[in-house]
Amino acid sequence: MKEIVLSGIRATGQLHLGNYYGALNKFVRMQDDYNCYFFIADLHALTTHPDPTILHANVKSILSEYLAAGIDPDKATIFVQSDVPEIPEMYLLMNMHVGIGELMRTASFKDKARKQLGIKTDNDNDDIEREIIGNNSNKRVNAGLLTYPTLMAVDILIHHATKVPVGKDQEQHLELTRRFARRFNSVYGVEYFQEPENFNFGGEAIKVPGLDGSGKMGKSEGNCIYLLDDEKTLRKKVMRAVTDEGPKVPNQPMAEPVANLFTLLKIVSAPDVVDHFTEAYNNCSIRYGDLKKQLAEDILKVTTPIRERIIGIRNDDAYLSQVVKQGAEKARESASKTLREVREIMGIKRFF
Ligand code: ADP
Ligand code: TRP
Repeated sequence: MKEIVLSGIRATGQLHLGNYYGALNKFVRMQDDYNCYFFIADLHALTTHPDPTILHANVKSILSEYLAAGIDPDKATIFVQSDVPEIPEMYLLMNMHVGIGELMRTASFKDKARKQLGIKTDNDNDDIEREIIGNNSNKRVNAGLLTYPTLMAVDILIHHATKVPVGKDQEQHLELTRRFARRFNSVYGVEYFQEPENFNFGGEAIKVPGLDGSGKMGKSEGNCIYLLDDEKTLRKKVMRAVTDEGPKVPNQPMAEPVANLFTLLKIVSAPDVVDHFTEAYNNCSIRYGDLKKQLAEDILKVTTPIRERIIGIRNDDAYLSQVVKQGAEKARESASKTLREVREIMGIKRFF
């Protein structure tokens, strides 16, 4: 039997190169060898983007992007999270075994809670718990955000997935999923859930940097190259990437913005191209303009065919709805079996 793989992306905007290399590209490469479930996390998107018109458009655009990148609905199960009502029910059950303390300590929660409260710092020492409890303005941190990791754990465990291809930023959520699985087993004295792990074809988890000099490429950071960017926009973004004034002495350590450009180059370009520019940097002959031109060229080689396919698919409502209908049926089949068993293990069963 094939091992079960599951992953999802939140419906919060168009996909960028970080999503592609951290997640989507791996989905495509796994679909032949594993029993794959790939979904669009619209319920998770509600924790930060509760806007009905945008949500609808985002679900559709991510679905088109999945298909355009090469996920084949006849090989993998592609579904929308909210089409599977077994997920929210199991989320309620699982929440009974999750501590609010451990949820509050999650890095992504602290980050997003600060944003919802309008706190600027990302200083780990600020007392976010006290801010949340004491805050009586009309700003609030929604409870869905706190329980985000429970919902994610359920997404995974409800299909008994053991491999979860995600980027590095999701590793803490996976760690929590493993903890919740172990806890469920030990509370009920069963060996029911297996502990899932990230999957990277044997390599390290990937973090695609942004073009603005620091941090990761992310939708909310405004530093993205989108799969849908046209050639002109894409070249402009790459040519504007932050650098420094260039190396002054041979083998000088790279400043973060330059190191980030090399990280991107390693991800998208051939090894000899990377060697060429590394050597040029180390002997101080590098021209960042040439590096950026090459980088834009190599990114376009990846994104152009995907972009063309997205444009071809995204208005084909009949096809898109058929894909998710078929996916929801398959996902519900597996989810309802797990939910039935979980209810039974937890004692929610009628005896009269
Ligand atoms: P964003 O951070 O842009 O909001 P999501 O949180 O929706 O993106 O992430 C969807 C998937 O893409 C996850 O598996 C996440 O790990 C991956 N991902 C997002 N940004 C990056 C990045 N810069 N590098 C690697 N993987 C990423
Ligand atoms: N939290 C993930 C992200 O922000 C999205 C997600 C939700 C997910 N449920 C999941 C990823 C289950 C993998 C498995 O990107």
